[in-house]
Amino acid sequence: MQRALTLHQTTIGKKVIMALSGVIIVGFTVGHFLGNLNLYLGPEAMNGYAEKLQSLPPLVWGTRLVLLFAFGAHIWAAVSLWARNLKARGSRYEKRKDLATDYAARTMYWSGPILFLFVVFHLLHFTILPAHPGDVYRNVVEGFQTPAIAGVYIAGNVALGFHIFHGIFSAFQTLGASHPRYDTYRRDAAIAISATITIGNLSFPISVLAGLVTL
Ligand code: HEM
Repeated sequence: MQRALTLHQTTIGKKVIMALSGVIIVGFTVGHFLGNLNLYLGPEAMNGYAEKLQSLPPLVWGTRLVLLFAFGAHIWAAVSLWARNLKARGSRYEKRKDLATDYAARTMYWSGPILFLFVVFHLLHFTILPAHPGDVYRNVVEGFQTPAIAGVYIAGNVALGFHIFHGIFSAFQTLGASHPRYDTYRRDAAIAISATITIGNLSFPISVLAGLVTL
């Protein structure tokens, strides 16, 4: 008996879920980066900003809920597309057809798991087990003064850069902006967004390591 496939069961459906959840995560990442710029304005600005957010529980918990859902859907769709791909790989005589797509997919396979580990570490480090609860500025600066921790953030954000560059590019394609005429715009938009977030995020640990931001 045939039954109708729902959106999440088809390959294109999973790609749409990846793209939409990715858009939500990138949106959060942009907002998070802009908020973290308060680091350059000093402890009062940074801690004041954090306190303001904490004084708005519906905003904080609403964002957490949406993010949890988006990360869950994104990882579920990624793992399930990867498993399907693995099964379909089949004969070793099969020729590789689309080198560009292969390259992008390979990038996602290493950057995705690194990002997952980075986010787990990041949540434990600053949100769940902060060294100085309530003093976000001190947590960040003291954290990045330890080269190994700054190194984890640098590696994590390099992975983030590759991941969102390919992610944004293919999300545009999945969501319909896939005409050769738009390809350069897609690439330019992907470069602009991913470079801004990546260079901006890398600047935080690097500024602390360089002694430009101090306690
Ligand atoms: C160098 C770059 C980054 C810095 C300096 C940074 C800094 C912070 C800080 C200080 C907090 C805790 C805020 C508080 O307790 O009030 C935080 C929370 C968080 N960060 Fe980052 N972050 C960075 C990159 C990222 C990236 C790349 C992601 C994800 C893609 C991310 C996701 C999160 C999440 C999900 C939270 C938890 C928010 C919550 O529920 O309270 N961060 N970050």
